[in-house]
Amino acid sequence: MDNPFIKYSKSNDYVTGDLKKLSSSYIPDNFPHREKQIDGIARVMSSIVTGGISSNLLLYGKSGSGKTSSVLYVTNMLKETLNGNINILYINCEIYDSQYSILVYLTNAIDTGDSPIPILGLPQDRIYSELVKRLNKSGRYTVIILDEIDKLIQKSGSDALYVLLKILTESNASMIGITNDASFVSTLDARVQSRLNQESIIFPPYNAMELRDILKFRVSGVIKEGFITDAAINLCAALGAQEHGDARKSIDLLRIAIDYALKDGKSSISIEDVYMARDRFEMNVLKESIKTQPIHSKMVLLSACLTQETDADLSVTGEIYENYRNICAEIGFQPLTMRRISDLLSDLEDTGLLTTNTRSLGRYGRMKFIRVMGSIQSIQGYILEDPAFSSFQGSKIVRQSKLRTNFDAYVETYKNGDFDSK
Ligand SMILES: Nc1ncnc2c1ncn2[C@@H]1O[C@H](COP(=O)(O)OP(=O)(O)OP(=O)(O)O)[C@@H](O)[C@H]1O
Ligand SMILES: [Mg+2]
Repeated sequence: MDNPFIKYSKSNDYVTGDLKKLSSSYIPDNFPHREKQIDGIARVMSSIVTGGISSNLLLYGKSGSGKTSSVLYVTNMLKETLNGNINILYINCEIYDSQYSILVYLTNAIDTGDSPIPILGLPQDRIYSELVKRLNKSGRYTVIILDEIDKLIQKSGSDALYVLLKILTESNASMIGITNDASFVSTLDARVQSRLNQESIIFPPYNAMELRDILKFRVSGVIKEGFITDAAINLCAALGAQEHGDARKSIDLLRIAIDYALKDGKSSISIEDVYMARDRFEMNVLKESIKTQPIHSKMVLLSACLTQETDADLSVTGEIYENYRNICAEIGFQPLTMRRISDLLSDLEDTGLLTTNTRSLGRYGRMKFIRVMGSIQSIQGYILEDPAFSSFQGSKIVRQSKLRTNFDAYVETYKNGDFDSK
């Protein structure tokens, strides 16, 4: 058998530059339609160049609006201007989400020639003073970039940010926070808000025209002109614009379409290639794991989604079972018994589509509350793609019980999970 990689390793006439430039981690040297934001960041930070201190900065904008890459671009330029004499420390708070892990990371990221501190075991106040000592010892200004800063607050509360802000005031440093959450500041404690002392810059969503310019810029010098049709560029831009003006989505779609077209030996990219890229792109794990569920599991999962939407506090086994029966009636299936449905709910929990949480209701015993994991809208959409659901209208999905007003009777009926006799 021939080596299967040979046909893919031939150089291609349509590729005129480095395809890595289309990857999402590549930081371009220009950002069409972000001139104002980039200049705004540079203006706030410009006092560092003249030996002063910068205000803290908060950047807001939806996913794919260019926040992270613009900040990394500007801070790289700042470093270049200062001939490397500045510490730029980037932290993604989705990964480092506790005060402890951030302090350790920062302490070890500053280049002072000291040996790294251990990742575990040191008391927090020791790390705190070590970090302040190293920041001052480095003799350079320090910019700390906290990307997805809202995740830090969500997981560790305002305290973590309070401590970081305190460190900034004890050293020659400032912070840039990046978030998707427009209400971020209002989620902070008043004492943190008052210390934040920040300027804010908004990254509005891109429209389709702007995305088209961005795509044209990103492929120029990488792909031979004419290989990508205007229609294909326009479609990638339109699909990204639909998705809250997401440049990442547009660029990823175009990159996947280019990749497949090159591998298939095509001489240009049409809109069909973009649609194919979108289908591949969206073939995510969630969709696959839903598609491969048996029909009754899909009905139970749909019922769990709809029950949760109707009233999240009533998302308990009995309620889900009743709505499941209604779904069966609507699309023409004989319902399984409650015991079987309990098993299916456990299976769905094993695949990570649901989580359950058993709560004690005092003298009424314990009840299992069920929560659908991930976006309910997407999950519903994937279930309803099954032709068996074509007649489903959702007209009979209602709140079954009177859990709130008639709690006792409800609990008595359902707490033992004995529904087969019903
Ligand atoms: N104006 C632009 N010009 C060129 N490329 C851009 C532009 N805006 C965004 N991009 C590219 O789009 C992708 C997404 O941008 P980025 O990661 O900066 O978004 P983000 O706002 O940080 O999103 P998230 O909130 O999801 O982290 C990156 O590959 C980035 O280089
Ligand atoms: Mg980002």
